[in-house]
Amino acid sequence: MNASASLQGPAHVLVVGSGGRENALAWALCRSAGVEAVWVTPGNGGTSELTGCHQLSVVESDHDALLGVCQEQRIDLVVVGPEAPLAAGLADRLRQHGIPVFGPGADGAQLEASKQWAKALMVEAGVPTAGFWPANSRTEALSVLEAQGKPLVVKADGLAAGKGVTVAETLEEARAAIEDIFAGRFGAGDGASLVLEERTHGPEVSVFALCDGERMVLLPPAQDHKRIGEGDTGPNTGGMGAYAPAPLLDQAGLEQVRQLVLEPTLKALQARGINYRGVIYAGLMLTEAGPSVIEFNCRFGDPECETLMPLMGPELATVLLACALGQLHTAPSLTISGRCSACVIAAAQGYPGEIRTGDRITGELANGDDLQLFHAGTRRDEQGHCVSSGGRVLAMVAQADDFDRAFALAYSGLEQVQFDGMTYRRDIGHQVRST
Ligand code: AMP
Ligand code: GLY
Repeated sequence: MNASASLQGPAHVLVVGSGGRENALAWALCRSAGVEAVWVTPGNGGTSELTGCHQLSVVESDHDALLGVCQEQRIDLVVVGPEAPLAAGLADRLRQHGIPVFGPGADGAQLEASKQWAKALMVEAGVPTAGFWPANSRTEALSVLEAQGKPLVVKADGLAAGKGVTVAETLEEARAAIEDIFAGRFGAGDGASLVLEERTHGPEVSVFALCDGERMVLLPPAQDHKRIGEGDTGPNTGGMGAYAPAPLLDQAGLEQVRQLVLEPTLKALQARGINYRGVIYAGLMLTEAGPSVIEFNCRFGDPECETLMPLMGPELATVLLACALGQLHTAPSLTISGRCSACVIAAAQGYPGEIRTGDRITGELANGDDLQLFHAGTRRDEQGHCVSSGGRVLAMVAQADDFDRAFALAYSGLEQVQFDGMTYRRDIGHQVRST
């Protein structure tokens, strides 16, 4: 494919994944200029209903079958949602067959797949991040902890589905987290490794850079709500809601993050010979000393992606294709709405612990310009009814000229859908709402 063809936008797009993030991506790509059809695999109970969207049942880990889909459907662009297939080399495999992929290869995915690797890269790049000690054995980790004499943050090295981090309040808690990791709680056991980190303080914000290996486009900053309980209490979750643009980071703040964090990171990746074509997701803490990277991910955040996609202009698919081809400079600029976007997640009863599933979802809501219902943990049963099948079940997203109205609309949308055990926080966006 050449640069002028890329400017037309990809006709056939494949989205890999099954969450709310992939539902939002598929919806936004369906609306993009030049896109004739979008395939989602394995998708969920919502993606099968999207106009212009076809659902397949190939799982993310079946790279052979995914390659087959690309060839059969003459896919012009693959957008990989989750981190696991990226870390497992899906993008490398498809690229070897000439298929443009938005998502880094296994080398770049280490940004998320190994905390030790990411920390070393940050040091190399001079990116601000909390002080840390890598450790590859239980004894080493415990002796760092004793030497520091304070409760450090404990992070398992590999992919841990968002559960590998303990922000310890006491030394005892930090010790227990270390023991857990070396007992094999996140795989590896004896061969496990981790990072111990200084605890930092401040509000958190997510910034996404769409990269083509050399250049980048930044999306508006988004703020997630990680805790299950209102008032940001209780256990961590995948994210219970989000809003964008987060006023915590104004235009100048975002520019500072580009210069201090994202550009040096992309350069350091290049210096390692890594052609990073996909999202760099910087999870930042805004400390008194300035932004500090808490984590990098190699994919869009969920629910940040659901929040951001409705703000994207019709150039989205072309821009993602240009990233995949290493030709961002040839793409039209991405128009991004300046409206306020609000997202509230409806979770299953018990989430983030033991959840109930199989509950029928009732109520109708047609996705429109201001209000969207994206499915996450849902599936169609034998009769074609939509039932819950995961922890985070639905994402209700709304846009308006201010956050009060956007959240009021999102919450009114949630009143139109129901399932047994449906739970959601009523205070999402409390930082930006006056009501
Ligand atoms: P992560 O899985 O790396 O996003 O970490 C989960 C959560 O742990 C983050 O969203 C932060 O709230 C918290 N966290 C991680 N690292 C630190 C740190 N160095 N200091 C304070 N909190 C942290
Ligand atoms: N919303 C946090 C994440 O996607 O990791």
